[in-house]
Amino acid sequence: MILVTGASGGVGREVCLALAARGEQLVLTARDVARLVALAAEVRAAGGDAWVLSCDLRDQQAVAELAETVLAEHGIPEAVVLLAGHSLRRTLEESFGRPHDLVRLTGTNLLGPAALVLAMLEPMCATGTGRVIAVTSASARIPTPGWAAYGASKAALDAWLRALRPQAARHGVRIAIVELPLVATAMAAPTYGSAPRGALSPADAAGRVLHALDAPRTFISPPWARVGAVIAQAAPALTAAAAGRAGDLVRRVAVHGRTGPGAGSIGRSRAGGPAGDEPTGRGATGRRIGPR
Ligand SMILES: NC(=O)c1ccc[n+]([C@@H]2O[C@H](COP(=O)([O-])OP(=O)(O)OC[C@H]3O[C@@H](n4cnc5c(N)ncnc54)[C@H](OP(=O)(O)O)[C@@H]3O)[C@@H](O)[C@H]2O)c1
Repeated sequence: MILVTGASGGVGREVCLALAARGEQLVLTARDVARLVALAAEVRAAGGDAWVLSCDLRDQQAVAELAETVLAEHGIPEAVVLLAGHSLRRTLEESFGRPHDLVRLTGTNLLGPAALVLAMLEPMCATGTGRVIAVTSASARIPTPGWAAYGASKAALDAWLRALRPQAARHGVRIAIVELPLVATAMAAPTYGSAPRGALSPADAAGRVLHALDAPRTFISPPWARVGAVIAQAAPALTAAAAGRAGDLVRRVAVHGRTGPGAGSIGRSRAGGPAGDEPTGRGATGRRIGPR
C-alpha cells in the first residue's frame, strides 16, 4: 500500500492515476473528501484499489489520528508520497501583520507532513523497508523574494529529511526529495495563470515523482536549480536578488500563456492562497480525520 498526501488534485492526482495503472493499492488523503472519493473510483476503474481518509495537515491531532487509522486498517505503507502543499506569494510589505501566513504554510508544508512521516518511519524502520518521497521546490534552496514563507516551509522539510536520511537508510528506509519546477496546477494559477508557458504538465511532474519512487534516487531536481542552490551558498544576497528578478521574468513569460477566465494581471496570489486552500464539504464515503 502506498500513502499519498495531496491526492485530491494537481500532481498528486496524476501520481495516483499512474500508480493505479500499475495495480497499486493506495490510501488517498487531502481535505476534500468529494474529490478523493471521485479519484478513488477512477483508481479502481484503472486497475488499482484505493481508500479515502481526509485530513487537514495543519491539525496535528488529525494527523496523529490519520497515522493511527492507516497503520491499524491498512498496515505499514510500502511508501509515503508527500505531495500536499500550500503556496503563497507575498512581498515583504504584503507580509506585514500576517504572521499567521507562516503558521498556515508551515502547518501544511512542514509540521503535518513531518508528524505523518515520523509515525510511519517508526514501523518502517522496525521492519527494515519503506520509501518516503517528499516533493519540495527550488525555492527551498534558492531564497526567492515573494516566496519567503513558502520557501522557508519547504526548506525546513528539506533540511529535516536530509538530516534523517542516513539513519533511515541504515534501517532500510529510503528518503528521496523531488524539487519540482513550475507545474501547471491550481497552485500555480493565481500567480502564473491557468496555462503557464514553460510549466510542466501535472502528468510530467508526476513522472518525476514516480521516478523517485522507482529508482534508487535520493534527490531529483532540475539542473538550473542544482546550480542555483550552489551559487546561493556562495553568494546568498546576490542570488536572492537575482532570483527575484528571474522570478518576475518567469511570471511575465508564463502569463502570456494564460487562457480562460481569470486571465489578466500579473501579481500576488489572491488573499488566502491558491485553490484548495479552503476545505470543501465532507463526501458520502471516506473518513474525515479531525475537525475542520
Ligand atoms: N505547482 C507548482 O508550480 C509547484 C512547483 C514546485 C513544487 N510544487 C509542490 O508540488 C506539490 C503538489 O502541488 P500541486 O501543484 O499539485 O498543488 P495543488 O494542485 O494545489 O494540490 C495541492 C494538494 O495539497 C492538498 N492540500 C492543501 N492544503 C492541505 C492541507 N492543509 N491538508 C491536507 N492537504 C492539503 C490539496 O488538497 P485539498 O485542498 O483537498 O486539501 C491538494 O490535493 C506541493 O507540495 C507543491 O508545493 C508545486
